[in-house]
Order: sequence, then structure tokens, then C-alpha cells
Amino acid sequence: MEKIAIAGLGWLGLPLGLELQSLGYKVLGTTTNADKISDLQEKGFEAALLDLNKEFDREGLRTFFEEVSVCIINIPPGKSVFQSYRSQCLELAGLFPETARFIFTSSTSVYSDRVILAEENTSVLTDYNFTSQLFLAEKALKTELGQRLTVLRLAGLFGENRNPARHLSGKSGLKNPASPVNLVHRDDCIAFIKEIIRQRTWGETFNVCASEHPSREEFYTRICEKQGWELPFFDPESQEQGKIVSNQKGIQMLGFSYRLDSPFDF
Ligand SMILES: NC(=O)c1ccc[n+]([C@@H]2O[C@H](COP(=O)([O-])OP(=O)(O)OC[C@H]3O[C@@H](n4cnc5c(N)ncnc54)[C@H](OP(=O)(O)O)[C@@H]3O)[C@@H](O)[C@H]2O)c1
Repeated sequence: MEKIAIAGLGWLGLPLGLELQSLGYKVLGTTTNADKISDLQEKGFEAALLDLNKEFDREGLRTFFEEVSVCIINIPPGKSVFQSYRSQCLELAGLFPETARFIFTSSTSVYSDRVILAEENTSVLTDYNFTSQLFLAEKALKTELGQRLTVLRLAGLFGENRNPARHLSGKSGLKNPASPVNLVHRDDCIAFIKEIIRQRTWGETFNVCASEHPSREEFYTRICEKQGWELPFFDPESQEQGKIVSNQKGIQMLGFSYRLDSPFDF
């Protein structure tokens, strides 16, 4: 049975893992939380403890990951205590066999808000901030893994128990009412990752984002109305244009079709 590892069986990683199991893969995964291990095992995963911010059992994990053919690095940058996120990702990748392929879940936040259309080859911010931690990790992993790596720049994640409108509900003076939203539903992220694995598309970078981009004001107001939440209020003087993230490369190269192509369908 082909083995796939998901480093980070969290909000996205867990349902992705269940879906891969249903396709017949043996799925291995990691969590930072020892209390979750037995629950993950009950769900059919081979589970191991890994916290990149703490000392971990390198040799044990190297043995655990033997025979893995694809690893999905699905751990967000956190507050690293003694190592940069980039170094942590490199160290993690080094625990896998030399034949393994990798998917790294980055973010469309690597693109500056000053670009109008963010395509995969658009230059990104390089300031030392949260955004560039992801970009620096992308760059380091590409240098190390070359054609064995595909990078997915995910737009803002939406799905079960995760609705970004919740954070804006009831707020006022919100910036940039006319800026387009760039969001993607978890189901489409899972479908996209499955497609990369199925087509064995390595050595590429893809944006993963729904095709429709309503304005922030229209979208968040409508969602709050629908949920019966207090409406958000935007500052009409705030005029920044904002970026649109293009999803065309994935549609054209993979023939990928978004099931939830409009954020209003989420
Ligand atoms: N949130 C967004 O809108 C957004 C947008 C674009 C891209 N992304 C990316 O999408 C990916 C999935 O996001 P998500 O929302 O599913 O994340 P999540 O629910 O926070 O899950 C992250 C997983 O990583 C594990 N983890 C966290 N810190 C770790 C550490 N220091 N060492 C090892 N493992 C660690 C967590 O372990 P536990 O099981 O112990 O919790 C969990 O399994 C991330 O890579 C994120 O950067 C997110």
C-alpha cells in the first residue's frame, strides 16, 4: 500500500488524510498533542508526535517515515523558539526518504497587496515578517528538493467551523471595502492536493483560490446577513485596491475544476 505522510493533521490535514485513506493510501500523520494520538489511530492513521518548536526524536521519525512516497508539509509558521520556520521545514523534509515527493502548503499572503493580479510568477514581498517566513521556506525547500516539490499557495481558508466573516462581524471602520476577497473552500483544497498526487505534478507552484472575487464589503456584509450576525461597517475613505489571486494555472495545467467557485456558495 502506498504511504503518504501529512505533517500536521489539523483542520485541513485531518479531512485530507481521511480522503486519501478512502482512495486506498496508507496515511501517516503528526500532531503536537500526545492526547490526540490514540484518536488519530482509531481513525486509521499511523500517528506520531512532532513539535518543531521542541526537541523531537529524529531517528524515530526517520524510521516512522521510511517508505513514504509523498509528504504534505502542512504546518503553519508559528512563533519559533530556537529555529527559523525555514530551517524547521528543511529539517522535517530531511527525515524522509530521498525518493519522496513533497507538497508544501504556503499561502497567497506571500503576494504583496500592491500587485493587481497575483500569478505564480509575480514577485512577492521580501520584508522580514510573517508573510516572508512562508516565502523563505518555499525558497529553501525549492533549493533543497527541486523537482521533488510542489508548492501550493492557498487563499484564505473557509469551511467547517471556519468563517472569516466572524472576525469582522460588528466591527466598524474596516479598511478597503472595494478590495477583492481571495478565498478557497477546504473541499477544493483537498481536491486540488488529490489532483497533484494523482497526476504526479512535481516541480511546480500553484495558487489555489476560488475564481470569483466579490468586494470585501459586499461579501462580508452578505455573509453576516446570512448568518444573522451583526453587520460589519467599512470606512468609505479607505481606498486601497488590493490584489486578485489568479487560479488559471491550476485550471489550465491540471484541468482542475473548482466545485465551490464563488465564495457566496461556501
Ligand atoms: N488559515 C488560512 O487562511 C491559511 C491560508 C493559506 C494557507 N494556510 C496554510 O494552510 C495549512 C493548513 O492550515 P490549518 O488551518 O489546517 O492549520 P491548523 O489547523 O492550525 O493545523 C496545523 C497542523 O500543524 C500542526 N502544528 C502546529 N504547530 C506545529 C509545530 N510547531 N510543530 C509541528 N506541528 C505543528 C498542528 O498540530 P496539532 O494537531 O497538535 O494542532 C496541526 O496538526 C498551513 O500550512 C497554513 O500555513 C492557511
